[in-house]
Amino acid sequence: MTTTDSPPVEVHLTPSDLAAALAHDVRVGLTSDPKWLPAKWLYDEHGCELFEAITELPEYYPTRAERAVLQAHAGEIAAEAPATTLIELGSGTSEKTRLLIAALEAGGSLQRFVAFDVAEPTLRAAVSELSSAHERLAIEGVVGDFERHLDRLPKGPDRMVAFLGGTLGNFDEPNRLRFFSTMASALEPGEWILLGTDLVKDPERLLAAYDDASGVTAAFETNVLAVINHELGADFDLDRFDYVARWNANLERIEMGVRSNGPQSVHIPALDMKLELADGEEISTEVSAKFRRVGVSRELAAHGFDLVGWWTDPRGEFAVSCARRTTMSDSVAQ
Ligand code: AVJ
Repeated sequence: MTTTDSPPVEVHLTPSDLAAALAHDVRVGLTSDPKWLPAKWLYDEHGCELFEAITELPEYYPTRAERAVLQAHAGEIAAEAPATTLIELGSGTSEKTRLLIAALEAGGSLQRFVAFDVAEPTLRAAVSELSSAHERLAIEGVVGDFERHLDRLPKGPDRMVAFLGGTLGNFDEPNRLRFFSTMASALEPGEWILLGTDLVKDPERLLAAYDDASGVTAAFETNVLAVINHELGADFDLDRFDYVARWNANLERIEMGVRSNGPQSVHIPALDMKLELADGEEISTEVSAKFRRVGVSRELAAHGFDLVGWWTDPRGEFAVSCARRTTMSDSVAQ
């Protein structure tokens, strides 16, 4: 046990901000038709544990595939993008990021690592662990929502923003494009984004990954109802919901949700809301979009980023891509 101080953590989202944001999102989502809940609320402490368990399921290949890409290619990524500051969005436990940090340190460029996540306890644990492993690196944490606080990114130069794990897939198209345009204004010409994206593949393989035989994914998605019970005093009976996952071939995404098993009403005291659910009615809990190289490269180009690297695992299931904010003269030429 070392006695080093814990790294600084900047909090843009206090527990009470989070409570207000949850209340807002639940009110909006559950009065919409169809009903939906934003995926970020899946990650309370129990949700984070369930997600960790998902990453170890035999059916859930993305985590292993992304790790394989980084194991094989982190050196090339560091050579292509010798960043001095690495900012990781939705960093979670930062487990795979270690490979990237090691490569950027070995390349001699990296001076600073900033982890950005909504989940404060996980973030604090991750930055503490990283700082004991990397004593020469300045390590910081930012508790924030990357749909709202991206204007508060630490200053450059030579930053790389990493958005790994396939989390970009949680955005629907308008939000994804908004994310790219926010990144384009947040970054200076020459700075980089590094994306981890799961790729379009056989729907059966995809469905197995999101509807595993042991039911861990079902428990993870259903847990959002327990979060609402806990935070807003609601009385969702989790046993009266079935988990559903389907492949939307048009939008090339997995859609996950819970389906009401019988008609039921749910009381949400903190919102003074009574929710009526019909038999079979669904509440969307998450989407997970799958990508193709042409689509990623086109969307990046449309927002002033050049794709400068694309690496996949040996089976071609998952890609890590690197894009560079175009220089002034490049963007004038567009
Ligand atoms: C963390 C958003 C990348 O979409 O694969 C896994 C979350 N949900 N199984 C994904 C998730 C159900 C995961 N992301």
